[in-house]
Amino acid sequence: MEPMLSQIDAAPPDPILGLTEAFRQDPAPDKINLGVGVYVDDQGRTPVLASVKEAEARMLESETTKSYLPISGQPAYGKAVQDLILGPDSAVAAAGRAATAHTPGGTGALRVGGDLLRAFFPGATVWVSTPTWANHPGVFAAAGLARRSYPYYDPATRGLDFPAMLAALRDVPAGDVVLLHACCHNPTGVDLAADQWAEVAAAAVDRGWLPFIDFAYQGFGDSVEADRACIQPLLDAVPEALIASSFSKNFGLYRERTGALTVIGGDAEAARRTLSQVKRVVRTNYSNPPAHGGLIVETILADADLTAQWRKELEGMQARIAGVRAQFVEAMARRAPEADFEFIRRQRGMFSFSGLSDAQVDWLREERHIYIVKGGRINVAGITSDNLDALADAVAEALQRG
Ligand code: LMR
Repeated sequence: MEPMLSQIDAAPPDPILGLTEAFRQDPAPDKINLGVGVYVDDQGRTPVLASVKEAEARMLESETTKSYLPISGQPAYGKAVQDLILGPDSAVAAAGRAATAHTPGGTGALRVGGDLLRAFFPGATVWVSTPTWANHPGVFAAAGLARRSYPYYDPATRGLDFPAMLAALRDVPAGDVVLLHACCHNPTGVDLAADQWAEVAAAAVDRGWLPFIDFAYQGFGDSVEADRACIQPLLDAVPEALIASSFSKNFGLYRERTGALTVIGGDAEAARRTLSQVKRVVRTNYSNPPAHGGLIVETILADADLTAQWRKELEGMQARIAGVRAQFVEAMARRAPEADFEFIRRQRGMFSFSGLSDAQVDWLREERHIYIVKGGRINVAGITSDNLDALADAVAEALQRG
């Protein structure tokens, strides 16, 4: 018999992280990476935040052990997560209806949530937006859950097709799960308005489906407060929800894999019971979470000065991206006045759906060494003063080629 492992075919490269690998291997000196959602400053660097460096310096002095964390992480970390994503005055948290497990990144939170749902609701379908983050379908497929999609982005208006979205969500049966992006929708950068969130909440309550909120970009939309206020109407209305949150972007902790799964239960007892099952899922997967990133977040959020410093750094990142959006729109207006790029100013967070076709995306990579995710998502945070003109020239040329 053929040896077992030699029967395994090679997997295709990951649509996002595979692109980063290809970018690294490209020897072109003027290559531009607008693929993976990682913030870079105007010098093209992804620095460790100064608040994070200071927290790490303090941790070096004060940390006394590398023993295991509890399965769901430190209670202080769970509290910090809830204060940030639900707000310090959250009625849900005050009622004990929220229970949080520290997970390896937001992706880990999505997968733990998926495994939990598969264990108790194997017939549940997870509904994702069209389009959605390239890894969402794979995460829920790996958990063994069926997937379906609901309309979201309208290429004609380059905005939200809310009537179609709402009609679909009003048809999702009880017992299914709807994945919603809290803010800075990945990959489109197109978000729901407050009144639209209220209508989605009403659909969830009427139909009885479970919202699973992916909250990976808090602070990159408008602010920490405004971004969590978006999901407030939903959390006020629904009896239950799951929230996957991440500190990869807003604390720049990408490689530290620092995220959380927060369970909102109908009451404190239901939240406690569900968390106990989340712990079983975690124990049979990675046993307990990695400590370093979580301790950084705890250290920063427990100290008023460090918190103020971190907020300033986060606001700086958010403001740079907003500025770059405007610069790119203006650069394109000079080169391709017939093509309207104003929508890039309206879209929020790290990403914009550029409207570039897959053929144009391929041409930009092959001929101009510009790396963009298939489907045309560009990481606006990757645009710098140094690469803006070359990028705009190349995009204008790609548009002309059709
Ligand atoms: C992205 O969408 O680029 C980020 O969320 C990073 C990732 O893991 O794909």
